[in-house]
Amino acid sequence: MISITDYINNKAENLKEKVANGCDLCGCRSLRFDYGNLPDYNNDLLQDVYVIRYGLAYAFEYKRMYKRLLENLAPGRTLEVTSLGCGNMVDYWSLKQVLPANCSVRYHGVDVIDWNDKFPAWAGDRIDFVQEGINDYLAECNSLTSDVYVFPKSISELSKDEVEDICRMIREKGFAKDEVHFLFSMRANQYNLDCDMAKTERISKAIMELGMLPDTEACALYEGLDKMICNCDRDFSIDELNGAYNLLNNLPYMCDNYNESNRVCERCRENRTQPMLKAKYMRYQIYTFRKVA
Ligand SMILES: C[S@@+](CC[C@H](N)C(=O)[O-])C[C@H]1O[C@@H](n2cnc3c(N)ncnc32)[C@H](O)[C@@H]1O
Repeated sequence: MISITDYINNKAENLKEKVANGCDLCGCRSLRFDYGNLPDYNNDLLQDVYVIRYGLAYAFEYKRMYKRLLENLAPGRTLEVTSLGCGNMVDYWSLKQVLPANCSVRYHGVDVIDWNDKFPAWAGDRIDFVQEGINDYLAECNSLTSDVYVFPKSISELSKDEVEDICRMIREKGFAKDEVHFLFSMRANQYNLDCDMAKTERISKAIMELGMLPDTEACALYEGLDKMICNCDRDFSIDELNGAYNLLNNLPYMCDNYNESNRVCERCRENRTQPMLKAKYMRYQIYTFRKVA
């Protein structure tokens, strides 16, 4: 499978090519999550910029999250995973980094946006994708059959009503398996985190109403250390990413609306140009529920 570094570099090459052909980068201004901002992921350029900025950090976080999950998973089986808000399926990439070789994955990706350059399935795995809202997708499922339901940085983007809808679907459908895992990756900012954790608690309660009990570690919030990701895991070396990160830095000067006298595009000035490279922004929860006899 492609390394995360090569994947990010490919995205940077794509972006460079598009910029060379002339383009308005101002749309990337929406790539921010503070004060309730949500990006317009339909924008191709923004998707490239998103991956350059967050790809390394999110791939690292999901790798840690799945590694922790797998500590309690018996090897030699197929793991069925539904990724709700899968984007480019980077969480599948992360899962494959830590999954024992004798296990395979049946991965269902769900997202309202059909992202470019989704990670492809490895030999022996199966991937499908549905372009749909999470609640509509769940409503159409006959039963909930996956071992793992993951919200990779998507829980923050769901409204309260959507979360209530998801809870209703869970109560109505129930789970086919006796054990189910819910993984929530969230934002580090305290305000967002509080909102996100209120949602994960709602979903957890809905599952418990089915008569399933969480294990003792449920509710634990896992955070990262104040360290560079590249110093935590060799897969995330940034030695070869200088070009990609320089490109990110220079975006305000590369837009077609760049103004020679102000030496910047006024609208692109709001673009955040720093990649996320520290482990301290990691926030995730793993809930394991079991049916009680
Ligand atoms: C921050 S992005 C995360 C993308 C990807 N999982 C990653 O880690 O890079 C949030 C994703 O959730 C998707 N999303 C948000 N609300 C959704 C909904 N109600 N139904 C389906 N997907 C949704 C967005 O389209 C977006 O792709």
